[in-house]
Amino acid sequence: MSKKIIIAIDGWSSCGKSTLAKELAKEFGYLYVDSGAMYRAITLYFLRNHVDWTDKAEVKKALKEISLEFIYNEKSEQSEMHLNEENVEYVIRDLVVAEKVSDVAAIKEVRKFAVEQQQLMGKKKGLIMDGRDIGTVVFPKAELKIFLTADNAVRVERRFKELFEKNPNITIEEIKANLEMRDYIDSNREESPLRKADDAILVDNTNMTAKETIQKVAKLAKQIITA
Ligand code: DC
Repeated sequence: MSKKIIIAIDGWSSCGKSTLAKELAKEFGYLYVDSGAMYRAITLYFLRNHVDWTDKAEVKKALKEISLEFIYNEKSEQSEMHLNEENVEYVIRDLVVAEKVSDVAAIKEVRKFAVEQQQLMGKKKGLIMDGRDIGTVVFPKAELKIFLTADNAVRVERRFKELFEKNPNITIEEIKANLEMRDYIDSNREESPLRKADDAILVDNTNMTAKETIQKVAKLAKQIITA
């Protein structure tokens, strides 16, 4: 039997990390974990419960009230994020959450809370996780690390297409501003900033289709799994 590995996919917002990770998980029969969904669900909880996240004590208290779980949905054929037993997979994609998530994800206590759970998910390997610090902090020993990137304009266009289907009132300017702000905060924060791990493979998919990106990374994974 071929060995099981951990594949860590990091990179900028909207460069296709989750599409890549989902398809690879299907191809290899691996578990896919969208770590960003965890930060989004925590943000949703903070917003709904008016948690002042600049107050450390309030954050610690709130985190004790939060239970996060990924539950597989046969209809959508994907694991969906549940916050305190409520399916929040769709509501966490809202721009209201996206506007605050980078601030919440920069908090030390929040990161500790999420990273501990992420590391437990990797105990048995056979896992693909995407995020910002997976190859650097969560799984620094992952057998395959990918750092995905694409030109800004291409990323804005991709996210616009995705969100416009759900909300036709959304503008390209709003999306652009949100992506730029998140990239800035995610890569400049003190705690686990977004950066390429030294041993990560850089994949720039500006001029690649989703299929080409998947094929390229699947080939790299197969080389490691069958070595
Ligand atoms: O992947 P995403 O866009 O759904 O992530 C939402 C936010 O969560 C992103 O702006 C930064 C943060 N994040 C993080 O700090 N670390 C991760 N491993 C994943 C996401």
